[in-house]
Amino acid sequence: MQLPADSTPPWAIGSSAYAPLAEDRRADVVVIGAGIAGLTTAALLARAGKEVVVLEGRSVGSGTSGRTTAKVSALQGARYQVLADVHDEDTAARYARAQLDALAWMAEQAGPVEAAQWERRTALTYATTEAGRSKVEQEARAATAAGLDVELGGADLPFEATASVMLADQAQLDPGPYLAALAAEIAASPNGTVHEDTRVTAVRGHRTFRVVTPRATVSAQHVVVATLLPITDRGFFFARAEPKSSYLVALDVAGSVPQTMSLSVDEPSRSMRTARIDGQERLLVGGEGHHTGRGGPTLARYQALVDWAQEHFPVNEVVARWSAHDYVPADHLPWVGAASFTSPHLLVATGFEKWGMTMGTAAALLLADTITGTEGVSTPWGAIFDPKRMALRGLPTAARLNAEVAGHMASDWIKPEAGPASDGTGRRRRSGLVPVGEPEPSGPAVRVVCTHLGGVCGWNDGDRTWDCPLHGSRFEGDGTVLAAPAIRPLRSAEPPSPTPDA
Ligand SMILES: Cc1cc2nc3c(=O)[nH]c(=O)nc-3n(C[C@H](O)[C@H](O)[C@H](O)COP(=O)(O)OP(=O)(O)OC[C@H]3O[C@@H](n4cnc5c(N)ncnc54)[C@H](O)[C@@H]3O)c2cc1C
Ligand code: FES
Repeated sequence: MQLPADSTPPWAIGSSAYAPLAEDRRADVVVIGAGIAGLTTAALLARAGKEVVVLEGRSVGSGTSGRTTAKVSALQGARYQVLADVHDEDTAARYARAQLDALAWMAEQAGPVEAAQWERRTALTYATTEAGRSKVEQEARAATAAGLDVELGGADLPFEATASVMLADQAQLDPGPYLAALAAEIAASPNGTVHEDTRVTAVRGHRTFRVVTPRATVSAQHVVVATLLPITDRGFFFARAEPKSSYLVALDVAGSVPQTMSLSVDEPSRSMRTARIDGQERLLVGGEGHHTGRGGPTLARYQALVDWAQEHFPVNEVVARWSAHDYVPADHLPWVGAASFTSPHLLVATGFEKWGMTMGTAAALLLADTITGTEGVSTPWGAIFDPKRMALRGLPTAARLNAEVAGHMASDWIKPEAGPASDGTGRRRRSGLVPVGEPEPSGPAVRVVCTHLGGVCGWNDGDRTWDCPLHGSRFEGDGTVLAAPAIRPLRSAEPPSPTPDA
């Protein structure tokens, strides 16, 4: 079955609506990144009367928030048993409370935005194996202990589940219109401004800040770094979280499709929900997760999703396909708040582990409380997300991540040769000592040396991007930055043209 040529979600917002930052200015708060975490924080602050400036390197919703599955759910696969195990039951309960508060906030926000297609749905975690059965039953116990009103059973799947647990009254939405409406609200507020095509290249200061972009600077008392993974090194989150990519296909299926938002606990993991695209109900199928920048050709990942769907549904056509990545913290709790003791007003929101619709919103509620000085009033669960926590149980995972990073760094520099992909794109070779890549068989080459910390980027044939296997920065074929933590583009491999004679 033919895959669409482009990797674009059906709800993509498209071109920029807001002018780049062109002049130096001051503000109470600078928010870096116009995804769900950044935009929700900015909207809350603008409502609270703070002067807030959003700086977005590309366009509103162009990051993971615009390329997600967009289930809005407090039931999140097998999350509560992990939190109870790595932390404790109290932490799991606070996490659940944060998700429910975020869901309630989003319901109020999304309800009036017709294009966001907010729909209440039941969330389902299920298993198809015996090993998976005990995991689901354990999740039912852990989620109940965390305060969620879950019930065993309820699977509406076209194959047999060995066990399932469901949580009613969750939701799904189209994230593009939702994010666009948040940005429009900020821009329409007398206190808010949104700038697109404005990549932040440095954040200077410790008590007050200068946020530097290519054309101008903003001075502020608070900075919120909501760039999926922070672009600032304070907190060293890149060394404590794993970037994980996943893939999605939207399918035209003959007949009815399951109405629950489901997620399997068995491998390979499969996620499903419906979506109304151009007036037609489609089935979204997601999965094929792997460490970003590692794991071979990605076109095959889309194909694997289609093959799986065809086993269970009469699929007529693949309507759309897209992918994204998110960060999994070593101790499985997001980081929200001050990144370090020395910079109490530099705040981060990261590590949402593919549950950032609710968790990005919860992070925004907490950050807005922190900045307006009402910390703990409406977000009593907030302390568990403190980025400065000592997470001893996460240390072995962090050590493993960093050992793998060191291994990749060495082996990719020793032998950078790779590809090309089946369509001739993305050959990687050595030019002198430097690894270079050719996005097109006969196009200009780029130095595929990641501008974050020097990882050798690999070709993602499904999305036509260069992805760094160390901490998940991503670049377009020509080297333009797509995703943090990198802030500078890949350099051209072509020698600079000689300066013309005067
Ligand atoms: C495949 C997939 C499916 C998912 N499905 C779900 C789901 O069903 N439900 C759920 O709750 N969660 C889901 N998630 C997780 C969720 O989508 C993310 O956690 C969330 O979108 C992250 O939001 P964010 O605002 O932190 O980051 P982003 O949306 O990535 O926003 C960060 C923004 O910062 C900008 N930026 C980066 N660097 C700079 C810079 N230097 N200067 C200025 N701007 C910069 C980027 O361009 C980007 O727009 C999924 C994730 C993936 C990968
Ligand atoms: S993302 Fe850190 S080296 Fe590439």
